[in-house]
Amino acid sequence: MQYRPFGKQNFRCSEIGFGAWAIGGAWGAQADSDSLAALHRALDLGVNFIDTAAGYGNGRSERLIGQVLRERAAAGKKENVFVATKTPPAPGIWPPSPYCRAEVRYAEDYLRENIATRLATLGADRLDLLQLHTWTRAWNRNPTPFKILRQLQHEGLIGLIGVSTPEFDQNSVIDLMRGGWVDSVQVIYNIFDQEPAAELLQVAQECGVGIIVRVAFDEGVLTGKFTPETKFAADDFRALYFAGDRLERAVAHTEAIKLELADSGYSMPQAALKFVLAHPAVSTVIPGIRTVAQADANCGVSDLPAMSPALLQKLHRHNWRRGVWYGGK
Ligand SMILES: NC(=O)c1ccc[n+]([C@@H]2O[C@H](COP(=O)([O-])OP(=O)(O)OC[C@H]3O[C@@H](n4cnc5c(N)ncnc54)[C@H](OP(=O)(O)O)[C@@H]3O)[C@@H](O)[C@H]2O)c1
Repeated sequence: MQYRPFGKQNFRCSEIGFGAWAIGGAWGAQADSDSLAALHRALDLGVNFIDTAAGYGNGRSERLIGQVLRERAAAGKKENVFVATKTPPAPGIWPPSPYCRAEVRYAEDYLRENIATRLATLGADRLDLLQLHTWTRAWNRNPTPFKILRQLQHEGLIGLIGVSTPEFDQNSVIDLMRGGWVDSVQVIYNIFDQEPAAELLQVAQECGVGIIVRVAFDEGVLTGKFTPETKFAADDFRALYFAGDRLERAVAHTEAIKLELADSGYSMPQAALKFVLAHPAVSTVIPGIRTVAQADANCGVSDLPAMSPALLQKLHRHNWRRGVWYGGK
């Protein structure tokens, strides 16, 4: 496993981090025993960065992570694992509308209470990184939630402060970086969605902001394993994400990418991760991992040779501006 600077922080994160959404829920059946084994294997393979959230199974993902870290400490392992979690806005429209008020959706009392719950669920006395789970450009001129988080940082409850981009307007966090409000940004960047390379990633480098890349596999389709006939369980959010003709269209795009990879030596999952890691602004990419086999496959990618400029150039042609699929069809 290779390690990279996390923005301007005094911390080097593993190139491959552990995306812990699916182990929390909303991805069909998932046994905790599989999740625990996957977490242990990833940490054994050098992962030192885990991304989770309050919303991943209402604390289930955080609880499993806390359990694994305690088990490893009890086994005498001396390792420094960095856990990033997220606080969502108080209940209401998701993502917040321009008419929502930051003082209501991320009120101080609410933030304090939610962060106390994160600490309890993880079994930690300090959060390494607290990310606001989403944002709206409307709050950029007076980002009061970050002022509150800086206060909580002074009180020692949180280490670093970050934000996860709203899918509909990822560039809305650029002003937050320039204003010095965030230590890290979590962003969707993959072979289909290359838009962050236009500006967001460069600004992060200029401002010393750590970049956590999510959804490198576009929720699995960029692993190349789906066909137009693939069916998702009713309780797998991908039944909505890939609804209607979307799966068929996405699979057709991945088939074209497979042709580019012929003779490259990379499988599709490997290429999807190496593509992301080729950008120097990226600190860590956090593929969702739900089994030991996926931990093995994804962690191994870090030590593969870097992607050649010629192949990168070919993959740049697969940028796909298709709109945002998260709200369903
Ligand atoms: N708003 C936000 O802040 C936000 C939103 C989304 C995600 N995230 C974070 O980003 C992480 C990554 O995104 P994601 O999990 O949504 O999607 P992803 O990384 O694009 O896809 C992950 C899924 O791909 C499959 N997979 C993983 N490794 C594979 C491999 N080597 N070969 C074949 N299949 C493989 C697994 O599902 P199957 O085995 O079931 O196919 C896995 O759950 C999340 O876990 C979460 O931590 C944050």
